[in-house]
Amino acid sequence: MEMTHVGHLDGKTAVVTGGSSGIGLAAAVRLADEGAYVFVTGRREAELEAAVKTIGSDRATGVTGDISKLADLDRLYDEVRARGKGLDVLVANAAVGTFVTLEQTTEEHFDQTFGVNTRGTLFTVQKALPLLNDGASIILTGSTAADRGMEAFGAYAASKAAVRSFARTWSTELKSRGIRVNVVSPAWIETPGGTAAFGDEETARAMKEHVAATVAKGRMGRPEEAAAVVAFLASEQSSYVVGSNLYVDGGENQT
Ligand SMILES: NC(=O)c1ccc[n+]([C@@H]2O[C@H](COP(=O)([O-])OP(=O)(O)OC[C@H]3O[C@@H](n4cnc5c(N)ncnc54)[C@H](OP(=O)(O)O)[C@@H]3O)[C@@H](O)[C@H]2O)c1
Repeated sequence: MEMTHVGHLDGKTAVVTGGSSGIGLAAAVRLADEGAYVFVTGRREAELEAAVKTIGSDRATGVTGDISKLADLDRLYDEVRARGKGLDVLVANAAVGTFVTLEQTTEEHFDQTFGVNTRGTLFTVQKALPLLNDGASIILTGSTAADRGMEAFGAYAASKAAVRSFARTWSTELKSRGIRVNVVSPAWIETPGGTAAFGDEETARAMKEHVAATVAKGRMGRPEEAAAVVAFLASEQSSYVVGSNLYVDGGENQT
């Protein structure tokens, strides 16, 4: 007997910001595998085109843009609107992060970090509101850094603590529409961005050794492992999970 695959997101429309790399790309692939049509964004055109090929050009559209620019967000949602099915899943995932101590922090560093991670996330969600269907799911990518005091990660950690807080407020504000807002907080997921944050290869290798020695799982995480949690939060399987924060950190903040 032939089995028909029934996806948890059949017929749904999704947006994944920062869907051209790492966790966002893995999430976009997984949402598409679950049956969703996915719009992915990122600033670099070539990476975005490659991502659409990876996801499958019959089930994804790439829209280049910077989430810290409101006009770019308008362009993104114009494309989603043109599809005519509203929006069921929004993964506000794009972010930047570099290591700068308090003493070294410049206005530019602060403004860029908060401009993308916090302000950009807020307007990514605000501008989606008219398109979101009742019962939609919004997933914000946080970070374990928000709960920790990692040296030279202050602006990034604070920008992600704000994101975690947004999920609580927005869950209350959107409850009458049945829209759920949750956070996925990863750590040590092996992605191009994650590796680049550690600068040279030597430091990246030292960090891997540190992870192997200190994190309960004893290894780095795979983008697909974060994507699985995004897919869970995106679907009705998580229908009673609201305003929550799910860690995908190999146990880092939990053990
Ligand atoms: N990897 C980890 O272990 C880890 C841990 C904690 C939290 N996170 C969070 O997980 C998310 C994804 O990170 P990742 O590790 O997968 O990083 P990544 O591989 O660098 O991917 C980041 C994605 O975001 C896009 N992006 C960055 N700035 C953008 C902007 N201003 N506007 C639009 N798109 C933008 C990038 O494309 P362009 O550069 O082309 O714009 C890329 O597609 C981020 O929110 C990050 O803070 C990751």
